Amino acid sequence: MPVELRRREVLVAGTLLAVAARFPALASVPTPLPAADQRRIDRLIAAMTLDEKIGQMVQVAGGRQVALNSRLDSAALDRVRAGRIGSFLHVAGAEPLRELQRVAVEESRHGIPLLFAMDVVHGYRTIFPVPLALAASFDPAVAEDAARVAAVEASVSGLHWTFAPMIDIARDARWGRVVEGAGEDPHLGATMAVAQVRGFEGRGTDLGEDAVLACVKHLGAYGAGMGGRDYDTADLSERTLREVYLQPFHAAARARAGTMMTAFNDLAGVPTTGNADLVRGILRDQWHYQGLVVSDWNAIRELIDHGAASTPAEAAALALRASVDMDMTSDTYAEYLAPAVAADPTLLPLVDEAVQRILTTKTKLGLFDDPYRFGDPERERTVLGSADHRARARRAAEQSIVLLRNEGGVLPLRPAQRVALIGALADDARSTIGSWKARGVPEDSVTLRAALGDVTYAPGVAPRGEDVSGIPAAIAAAEGADVVVLALGEDWDHSGEARSRADITLPGAQMTLLDALKATGKPIVAVLMNGRPLALESALADVPAVVETWFGGNEAGAAIAAVLRGEVNPGGRLPMGMPRTSGQVPQFYAHVPTGRPANPDLSVDSARYHDTDIGPLFPFGHGLSYTSFEYADLAITRIDGGARHRIGCSITNTGPVAGDEVVQLYVRVAVPGLARPARELRGFTRLTIAPGATRLVTFILRNHHFAHWADDQWRVPAGRVEVMIGASSADIRLTGALSVDREFNWPAYDGAGAALFTPVEIL
Ligand code: NOJ
Repeated sequence: MPVELRRREVLVAGTLLAVAARFPALASVPTPLPAADQRRIDRLIAAMTLDEKIGQMVQVAGGRQVALNSRLDSAALDRVRAGRIGSFLHVAGAEPLRELQRVAVEESRHGIPLLFAMDVVHGYRTIFPVPLALAASFDPAVAEDAARVAAVEASVSGLHWTFAPMIDIARDARWGRVVEGAGEDPHLGATMAVAQVRGFEGRGTDLGEDAVLACVKHLGAYGAGMGGRDYDTADLSERTLREVYLQPFHAAARARAGTMMTAFNDLAGVPTTGNADLVRGILRDQWHYQGLVVSDWNAIRELIDHGAASTPAEAAALALRASVDMDMTSDTYAEYLAPAVAADPTLLPLVDEAVQRILTTKTKLGLFDDPYRFGDPERERTVLGSADHRARARRAAEQSIVLLRNEGGVLPLRPAQRVALIGALADDARSTIGSWKARGVPEDSVTLRAALGDVTYAPGVAPRGEDVSGIPAAIAAAEGADVVVLALGEDWDHSGEARSRADITLPGAQMTLLDALKATGKPIVAVLMNGRPLALESALADVPAVVETWFGGNEAGAAIAAVLRGEVNPGGRLPMGMPRTSGQVPQFYAHVPTGRPANPDLSVDSARYHDTDIGPLFPFGHGLSYTSFEYADLAITRIDGGARHRIGCSITNTGPVAGDEVVQLYVRVAVPGLARPARELRGFTRLTIAPGATRLVTFILRNHHFAHWADDQWRVPAGRVEVMIGASSADIRLTGALSVDREFNWPAYDGAGAALFTPVEIL
């Protein structure tokens, strides 16, 4: 049974205890290894030479993302035999990895097993929607299930470790990597981070069945790169860093994510890979995180390009002092850490510490007991792309679609209507699987064209093409139809790593195509396919229906067609607001009020642009349904003597069909002396309601949810907290207030604010 359904049953059964049992209190203090395992690690470390220890800290590319295993040559095998490699990435396959592991275990002096890693991000062979789309489901069970399926497929193919989830907060849609994360909000981001870690690793204290290690990335403020440029500098206040960018990392650390990756970029001038204050200070010392930390690709050597180190030996020492345990591909540890240690013996205990963490990770994976326990060629043949996995990908794709606009009831399409399907993206199988495709293949994907079947189709223009010769045929198709379904957006290679764009409007000649179709007067349903929120105010003017479908994975087309036909009622929400114009970004709902708030009257001096309307085109949390919902009966009660608060309301489906509503709880905490965000998400839940039915939703907040960072600690002032419940960050339906009796504060170790889980009861 899908996780989603199981969760619903528990919630419907509805006691707080039942809910809490499914979300046990998080704790980051690692469970110690059994004594025998610890003794084995101690013995190994005592017996290893410095070069062998450093070997464990070296990760080598066994291939490339597009050509897995292609670098597993005899030189690589000789390095394994000499104990000079601890891990490979970009490798896969039960049989080749078994042989590679055999060389390590049988032909190296200590027989230490290797760790095999790959970017399995939103599926391994069965490809799910891209992570931004999974976040749009506003249902952590959907994200958890996607990670679960990916883990099952990856582990059966011999992999131990995935470089996912990416949990960087992203508030600038120009950044190409927004596609890989959960969007702009730290509470949604932390919730999705924990869900994916659990999906990859399992829910218990030990790694679960068919689990792979997660690697939350990219620690620091990678998503805050200046100007939305990838790899670029981030310069943030400590407050924003703690309250926003680090929140998903803190939540993931407390959910015992096995590993973390440091960001490429610098934070206020300190490159993250060598940032001892951040990695050793905050992550290790304050949060007590003991998992393995890996650098990003070549990032240790790039400390020289940043200017932070002048030699590779200095770069190696900087990264080690920051407590980066493993060097991804730069060979800086391999070649220069030994000379660095010779020059400065105080580095040696840090090497031992790193090796300790790496061997502990291998122990927790069970590799010392059975180095071949991952990878099963028999099961690999049946499990990858199984019907069950496809069905779960289909459901995830359906859940991630967001209905942005539906004027005049253009959607759902009616069976008698003649449909013209236009746009090359409607027939672009490659784009459905996004930029991190692991072992996914376009041939496995259902496109929108294939799913809609017998409709007139005209590609019009290629997503980035300037060739407009296909437009007349598209106009002819539109003229012969009752309604135009137009796929618009970006192809898969326009978002992702190093794919920032300065102008996030429609690329190529798509605007020309759109204008030509508008001129036919036929109603247009814009089906957006993209890896980032696009700036489409002028493009979408006079377009009555707009559906955001992202890159939906192998089942994208089938899911979109089901939504267009009304077989599935869409319930996704935007995890990142869509700007009106490119010049508006960065933009996010949790904005700090100014002394001169944006004013529609241009003669008033206020915080706005003169050439663009105020606010986003579609705000964070926005999404429509084929039905409608009414909110009522806000009730706020104190529990535990005012330490916690129950915030409940009723939601009624007032329309004709069953539908999903995403109920969103925002707070505003007034803090003397500070300007605080006008709204901060602190809870949400997606629930299905039958037509005419009413459900009661109750969130439970602790006073810790209202924290802000000040003077090196979390603080909650006494006083009033405004409470807002609504259907989006800009569609608040109910407002009230609660109060915190006494001011209190606590140190960084404990979670606070957005990172805290919010229990929800549904009756
Ligand atoms: C660089 C990317 O930044 C990171 O996210 C990825 O995991 C590594 N390359 C490995 O492919």
